[in-house]
Amino acid sequence: MVGQQPEHIYSTQNGFPHSAHPYGAQYARPDGPLLLQDVHLIESLAHFDRERIPERVVHAKGGGCRFEFELTDSLSDITFAAPYQKPGYKCPGTVRFSTVGGESGSPDTARDPRGTSWKMYTDWGVHDYVFNNTPVFFIRDGNQFPHFIHTQKRYPQSHLGQGDDSSMFWDYLTQNPESIHQIVYMFGPRGTPASWGEMSSYSGHTFKFYNKEGDMTYVQFHILPEKGFQCLSGAEAAQLGGSSPDYHHGKLYRQLERGEKPRYNCFVQTMTPKQAEEFRYSVNDLTKVWPKKQFPLRKYGTITLTENVENYFEEIEQIAFSPSNTCIPGIGPSNDSVLQARLFSYPDTQRHRLGANYQQLPINRPRNAGCPFATMFSTSTKTPANECPHIATNFQRDGPGCLYNKGKEPNYISNLPSATLKFKNLTDDKTTNKYKGVALQGEESASVKKQEFERERHERIVNGKINEYFIKTGVSELDVEQPRALYEKVFSDADRKELISNVVGHASNIHVPEIKTRVSQYFGLVNKDLGKAIAEGLGIKWEPLDLQRYADAVGHVRL
Ligand SMILES: *[C@@H]1O[C@H](CO)[C@@H](O)[C@H](O)[C@H]1NC(C)=O
Ligand SMILES: *[C@@H]1O[C@H](CO)[C@@H](O)[C@H](O)[C@H]1NC(C)=O
Repeated sequence: MVGQQPEHIYSTQNGFPHSAHPYGAQYARPDGPLLLQDVHLIESLAHFDRERIPERVVHAKGGGCRFEFELTDSLSDITFAAPYQKPGYKCPGTVRFSTVGGESGSPDTARDPRGTSWKMYTDWGVHDYVFNNTPVFFIRDGNQFPHFIHTQKRYPQSHLGQGDDSSMFWDYLTQNPESIHQIVYMFGPRGTPASWGEMSSYSGHTFKFYNKEGDMTYVQFHILPEKGFQCLSGAEAAQLGGSSPDYHHGKLYRQLERGEKPRYNCFVQTMTPKQAEEFRYSVNDLTKVWPKKQFPLRKYGTITLTENVENYFEEIEQIAFSPSNTCIPGIGPSNDSVLQARLFSYPDTQRHRLGANYQQLPINRPRNAGCPFATMFSTSTKTPANECPHIATNFQRDGPGCLYNKGKEPNYISNLPSATLKFKNLTDDKTTNKYKGVALQGEESASVKKQEFERERHERIVNGKINEYFIKTGVSELDVEQPRALYEKVFSDADRKELISNVVGHASNIHVPEIKTRVSQYFGLVNKDLGKAIAEGLGIKWEPLDLQRYADAVGHVRL
């Protein structure tokens, strides 16, 4: 690769070769103390000191691999979500399987539910399923989550876990008997699955699907292994917990190395709003299942585990899932309060674990169509950050580990002619007549437009009935009457002169002529003579605008 050392030359992190042996260090004398000037030594110790990132507060122990999703049957009658339209659509993904309660070194075979999280790199953006291997959960109130998890962990004083004392575990569960459905699953065979490749995944939560007509259907997802859900006996699981703590991880790793590719079929259960009203249980209740007789499984896809990752830390430890990524245009959250809490909590914990720019990491980054690496499935070594840009066009900038900072684009909504990231009316057909999306100027590829339209439609359908996005910016006569009174009635002649000279002095540094003109027009809204005096001071033509025309010129609403 151009500009890089051939890979076999040992180097410091800044890329220059380090000619000494990696164990070599600088000493004041052969038997003397180490030297602070030994940058190589300091760098290797300091980097080692920073190797750990916070482990996940739940689901700390896990492993995963790459997979391929294929849509086998269209769901277009119930959702306009892009990945669910055309049978045959395929996309790559990464899955992570985990236990819930244990620390990152705890045994895979512990009695616990399993997290099964699927990240799909679709042509339209990142789409996650953040599921469990049981169709229900312990709680149905998002607020209880921290309480519940505390009781699955260690005692505040002794730091002892459940293996030593399970009082806290049962204290919590028996106080909250809505947990009993999950507990019956968990203390039955499914509490100790035999392998990750032969284990079901369920959304548990209800999601809302929206179709083109705006009709809403409630759905639950089921991902079922082709070979059926295999389980260990309690005794086998306990024995393996001691002899082979990484049992599930190792089993999957070796299956994939041998070329075995575990497969799953993907289904939804659907319920109309009318059926939901008549349903015995609330659709928002995460502790209940929907009987399959009444709400049969409808197949839509397959998932095939394909290969091991190249680097565990990069592709599994740094992968960041969120149910908010389930809710792509065409899919919305139900009112389930546990789901609602997770919509906040998951991205929040990723910001804590990985930093505000975690979605720029190669494993989390969208690989939308149009990116040269869209179809390539690989690690950062093959997809340098700047070659597969983080496509999200927004004004988020900087922060730790920023890989794609949108170059010289203004980091605010700008009217400068040089700004290419602008509010832009993408409307070119009947789809909408009121929407303005944010898009890169010139980047009006079918894919970007399609995404914008889908998002707009989603916002309109999903939020239109609940609330609207209100834009509070805008200008009215009320905004200029007080500064006008200040200028005309309170200020003395000397104050007015001072104001003009201060503004002219400061605004003379503007390098874009139309902004100078806008400054004079801006003050002209307060008082025509003031605007004129500023234009003269700036040496430009005085071109007054009334409030309406001014609002139009800056793309503001006249309130
Ligand atoms: C969900 O919340 C909305 C807004 O409050 C309400 O109109 C709707 O009836 C709720 N639906 C269910 C199933 O809880
Ligand atoms: C967007 O463009 C369409 C089509 O040209 C137009 O009818 C509509 O008024 C525009 N909307 C806005 C908010 O500018």
